[in-house]
Amino acid sequence: MLVSAKEMLNKAREGKYAVGQFNINNLEWTKAILLTAQENNSPVILGVSEGAGKYMCGYKTVVGMVKGMLEELNITVPVALHLDHGSFEGAKACIDAGFSSVMFDGSHYPIEENIAKTKELVATCNKLGLSIEAEVGSIGGEEDGVVGAGECADPDECKAIADLGVTMLAAGIGNIHGKYPENWAGLSFETLEAVKNKVGDMPLVLHGGTGIPEDMIKKAISLGVAKINVNTECQLSFQAATREYIEAGKDQQGKGFDPRKLLAPGFEAIKATVKEKMELFGSIGKA
Ligand code: 13P
Repeated sequence: MLVSAKEMLNKAREGKYAVGQFNINNLEWTKAILLTAQENNSPVILGVSEGAGKYMCGYKTVVGMVKGMLEELNITVPVALHLDHGSFEGAKACIDAGFSSVMFDGSHYPIEENIAKTKELVATCNKLGLSIEAEVGSIGGEEDGVVGAGECADPDECKAIADLGVTMLAAGIGNIHGKYPENWAGLSFETLEAVKNKVGDMPLVLHGGTGIPEDMIKKAISLGVAKINVNTECQLSFQAATREYIEAGKDQQGKGFDPRKLLAPGFEAIKATVKEKMELFGSIGKA
């Protein structure tokens, strides 16, 4: 059964660890992440961007696939299915399709509009028992063609959004999606502390989890981050394992061409990446 992310994130914040959100793109990624969570007794959040949702035929297909896997793989750890960086319309569509959690990313709107739209979605999610993530201060880098500049959020705006009753808040603290540039200034812990002082016990979300040094991840968790999003690192490990397999000519061995064999090294690579992150975030054994 899919669950809201609320309980797992509140427990993580209290226990000073973070739950990983790993983005899914297809059946292999989903299966790899779910099995790794189960094997390590860790709660997990499956992230679906609007682009990935379209790629997988639409949100209903995603819900059907994930629910089917929970049953047929005997997954008993808490799993939330979460829209990542959703538009207002996208969030509504995911709620209708049966997601257990949504992110509404209104960070590119003027704050009044972000507040109005977030408020409406909070009401819907509360009624249905779903969790909702909001964002203040856009996360840099590129995701699904949307490029953000990596702002630091205004702590007062964070409080205004947190007070609407969202489950978790993504505040920009200089983090970016994708690989970090050589001259990256690092996370702004000053901003994170200022946000935490304003929003109190609200679980905070760190986007752009790929490539952040381990000591910064640990410090962020100690300052209230309870959910960390990872996408690029799974893409990189999947790609590297697939390339190695092809370059070694292994796809040409044996009888015929078997796509299941071609995808197997990438599947194992994702499992290894997800386990490594769960260890770093401290969520192993916390289901
Ligand atoms: P990375 O791709 O940098 O890991 O970030 C993922 C993310 O924040 C998804 O919302």
